Order: sequence, then C-alpha cells, then structure tokens
Amino acid sequence: MKVTVTVNGSPVAAEVADRTLLVHFLREQAGLTATNVGCDTTSCGACTVLLDGQSVKSCTVLAAQADGCEVTTVEGLAGSDGEMHPMQQAFRAEHGLQCGFCTPGMVMAAVSLLKENPHPTEEQVRSGLEGNICRCTGYHNIVRAVLAAANSEETR
Ligand code: FES
Ligand code: FES
Repeated sequence: MKVTVTVNGSPVAAEVADRTLLVHFLREQAGLTATNVGCDTTSCGACTVLLDGQSVKSCTVLAAQADGCEVTTVEGLAGSDGEMHPMQQAFRAEHGLQCGFCTPGMVMAAVSLLKENPHPTEEQVRSGLEGNICRCTGYHNIVRAVLAAANSEETR
C-alpha cells in the first residue's frame, strides 16, 4: 500500500507492506536513522517520536496508521537555522546526552512531557520518562535536563 507521511515538515511517500512499522518507515523510507529500535515490544522507548504532536513508540504504530499524519523525529527538533531546541540545549548543558541509542527517544519523550505538563515536579519527570529505558541507569542528569528545560521555557 502507498502511504504519505509528513516527516519533519516534508512529505515522504512510499509503498510499504501492511505490517511495516512506523519506525522502519522512518529509518528506511525517510532515511532518518536517529529513531532506534531497541526492543520492538513497546518496552524501551528508543523509538519515541511525535505523531500529530503526541509522543508514541513508533515500533507500536503501523506506517499505514500514520498515513496523512505529521511525524516529528529528533532530527526535526532544531530550528531551520540549526539552533537546537531548548530541550536539546538543556540535555547538553546538564550532561543528559548519553548514548546515541536511548537519547533521541528520551529527548522526544521529554519534549512531549513538557507539552503536557510545562512545570513538572522531579517526581513527575521521573514518572513521565518511565517508558524510556537507559540500560546504564543514568537517569539523574536526564531528569535535571528536563527540569532545566522547563525552567528555561518559563523565562522565555
Ligand atoms: S523499540 Fe519501540 S519501545 Fe523499544
Ligand atoms: S546511555 Fe543510552 S542506554 Fe544508557
């Protein structure tokens, strides 16, 4: 079947099998490989993207379900001038950037978390990121980064 998905503002159209997962569509058809497959059983969060503004685990969504929708991946967060998104800046400043495997999904989940709750407590950040696993258990700086991003957006 043919699907067309607007990915980071640009339409991507491709013939896919009915069972093609959105994460594979993003990696293979759109050529955006920052969205990772860690488990493909909805456990790790490495594949987190925004689908029509809501965070989803893209290993749990069929490409066909995203037909006609807008998807944002971590590659689409920076501004057109290359300026990093406030969440990316906060991850860098607070040393929340860890391995390339978990980080893109963490950042996308964090962006979604602040959209839903712009002023979370530390506890709310920890529970909001529960679906994103870092195998190194290095969550502390990630939580600090999300709280810093919330504060930086407060001052905008
Ligand atoms: S690859 Fe999607 S949750 Fe792990
Ligand atoms: S830093 Fe990526 S899995 Fe731990």
